[in-house]
Amino acid sequence: MQFEPGDQRRRLPRHLQAPPPEPDSFSYVIRPARVGDLPDVRGIYNHYVANSVVTFDEKASTHRYWREKFALLTKLKLPFLVAVTPSNAVIGYALVQPWASKSAYRYTVEDSIYLGPGAGGKGLGTVLLRALIEACEQIGLREVVAVISDSGAEASVRLHERAGFVEVGRMGRVGFKFGRSLGTIYLQRTLKPQRRRR
Ligand SMILES: CC(C)(COP(=O)(O)OP(=O)(O)OC[C@H]1O[C@@H](n2cnc3c(N)ncnc32)[C@H](O)[C@@H]1OP(=O)(O)O)[C@@H](O)C(=O)NCCC(=O)NCCS
Repeated sequence: MQFEPGDQRRRLPRHLQAPPPEPDSFSYVIRPARVGDLPDVRGIYNHYVANSVVTFDEKASTHRYWREKFALLTKLKLPFLVAVTPSNAVIGYALVQPWASKSAYRYTVEDSIYLGPGAGGKGLGTVLLRALIEACEQIGLREVVAVISDSGAEASVRLHERAGFVEVGRMGRVGFKFGRSLGTIYLQRTLKPQRRRR
């Protein structure tokens, strides 16, 4: 088969095609999430739902789920941050949600951090988690808990430990996904609240 320059009809098989050019640099800004970011956020999360055991969700999250979560976090004034490229594509997000609903837990939150495919391993997780912790301290939160799968989430464990989280416990066989049992690792970090929170 002959390929002529500019021939749009015939394409080389994927493994013979030249890789897409690398962006000149890995540049992004961190800012609070907006409603318009939610489709990208949902896409990032659903990638891990479908392809990994780092989340115990098994069904793709819906637009409605993310709209409701955004509304709840906005109402509770809890941080929900995104990392966006200069073209405003979301390449990662980090948020906290209430650890438990009973009122005595009000100073404690659970964090959640996910990067898009290709954005991992370059320090973005560290930057996002640091920004999330600072945002939590600014609003007077006192403790953050991370619940991490005991399988396939080594990067998350390392990320949290490097950010000052300490392992406080494990549970075995509490999850079951892709035909196998999974446990959870609990890590906790004490914050330095910058103001009083009711
Ligand atoms: C977890 C995650 C947010 C980490 O972000 P990241 O940008 O890749 O992490 P960083 O580059 O800032 O690296 C943080 C630490 O983790 C280590 N790390 C990164 N990828 C790793 C991997 N695949 N395996 C083991 N350690 C890894 C880094 O070496 C670094 O440790 P060091 O400072 O001692 O070298 C990201 O990998 C991700 O989105 N993973 C999938 C989703 C997920 O697991 N979310 C958490 C659910 S609880």
